[in-house]
Amino acid sequence: MNISDILSVSSFTWLWVLILLLVCLYYLKTVKPLHHWEQQGLKMAGRLLVLGDVVFGMSLCKDPYPEKLRQIYMDAGELRYIGYYEFLTPVLLIKSPDLIKQIFVKDAAKFGDRRIAFPDNFDEVFSKNLLYLKGQEWKDMRSFWNYVLSATKVAKLYPLMNETAVSFVNNFSGEENEVIEINLKECIRKYICSFASSIYFGVNHDSSTKEAETFYDSARNALSFIEAGQWKIIRYSLTLADTRLAKLCGFQSIMKKGAQSYFVEHVRRGMKREKDENHRDDLIGFVVERQREEISDSSEVYIKKNRSKLTEIEIAAQLCIFLFSSLDGLAATIGYIMYELAVNQDIQKKLRNEFAEICYDGVQPSYEDINNQQYLDMVISETMRKWPAAALVDRVCTVPYTIHPSSPDEQPLHLKVGDTIAASIYGLHHDPKYFPNPTKFDPERFSEENRDKINPSHTNLGALEPKAVMEENYLS
Ligand code: HEM
Repeated sequence: MNISDILSVSSFTWLWVLILLLVCLYYLKTVKPLHHWEQQGLKMAGRLLVLGDVVFGMSLCKDPYPEKLRQIYMDAGELRYIGYYEFLTPVLLIKSPDLIKQIFVKDAAKFGDRRIAFPDNFDEVFSKNLLYLKGQEWKDMRSFWNYVLSATKVAKLYPLMNETAVSFVNNFSGEENEVIEINLKECIRKYICSFASSIYFGVNHDSSTKEAETFYDSARNALSFIEAGQWKIIRYSLTLADTRLAKLCGFQSIMKKGAQSYFVEHVRRGMKREKDENHRDDLIGFVVERQREEISDSSEVYIKKNRSKLTEIEIAAQLCIFLFSSLDGLAATIGYIMYELAVNQDIQKKLRNEFAEICYDGVQPSYEDINNQQYLDMVISETMRKWPAAALVDRVCTVPYTIHPSSPDEQPLHLKVGDTIAASIYGLHHDPKYFPNPTKFDPERFSEENRDKINPSHTNLGALEPKAVMEENYLS
């Protein structure tokens, strides 16, 4: 058959060929991936053909994302894990706290990647932060910051923390009305921005100044990729699926270029300040202090000599992820604390009474005073239990891995490189088995008498502590 014969085939026949091709493509790209776990005989959470069980980005989901994951978590019943799909990505949700610890901590080196990872060249600044680095690069960066953020260093930040808090409160002290209406989210974010610009980026400005507004706008601008908005969410999901496709759709970087250079410039100025022997106890000050020290490999367990020098971009990348985590997770947590205190007046009163013991006659509480506030600690712990800012953590399998059966009903489950594993923190925190009456806000769960009854593996802080991951995997 030559070319002219082929071209002479009727357009009707071409149409059939095209339909057949489309059907094959549809099968390979959407139906086949949606059988990933069934082929291994796994219990599934349910299946929505084409869209998967949870549409990443929540935009098309009826329930909020954490709630949808909690339902999948509960669907597992007594099983240790269950399969589900996010769009077309098969995800294995681990329910058993012991198995979570096994995979996320003990065998973390075999699950070295987080799912949200960008190729190195995707975003010059953002892709260098701790959350996105992998393997050795993550380990080295983490070692460096373990030193910079040691307990002694954090205590040295307290005067600056106190200063921003006092200035924030003073914004309201002139008000004569007993009830002031505020946009809480914006208010908290502005406070966090003045805190972050002083403590992370070394620039102290009153929150009412023009510079403070510029800092706030740059942070919001840079953060806009995770703000609600269908198109932004779709573009972000696209980046996770295929960065080439995302670039084609005009999504060139996570942080806008202007915001990138704004924050890098702050780091540059901070480094110059330190070079000019004008030391300030803030994160840039601590970084430079560290870079100046002569480190012998044996002197510090975590710190390796080759990572004692970071570039300005690498420093900016970490400070930016601290800023974004503060504006996102921390801001949400502060907001939920305020909400719970507003609807639980008895708890608010008890907390105020505790504070009254350390704040009187204009006396500023010390770092130790705040750290010793037991009821405050209980309120924060219970808020993070009921409203965990990180609803889910995930990892990607980087070497073939088998989950061995723990009971006669289980089969060995063979995970392939690239398989995604997740743990629902929100599901664990709302499981009545671990936290009876989980929707009740009850700080007493974390009182001295009750705290021992809580297994750290059931909360987000215990099992996934990056320090524990390092100790288990890299220091033995
Ligand atoms: C209450 C608020 C917060 C919650 C619930 C929270 C929760 C978490 C969780 C669960 C992880 C582990 C993620 C994983 O392993 O995949 C994590 C990692 C991380 N968080 Fe937070 N976080 C909060 C606030 C913050 C703040 C305020 C900062 C910075 C100042 C921060 C910086 C980071 C960084 C840099 C990582 C990555 C650590 C590493 O890979 O070594 N987080 N966070």
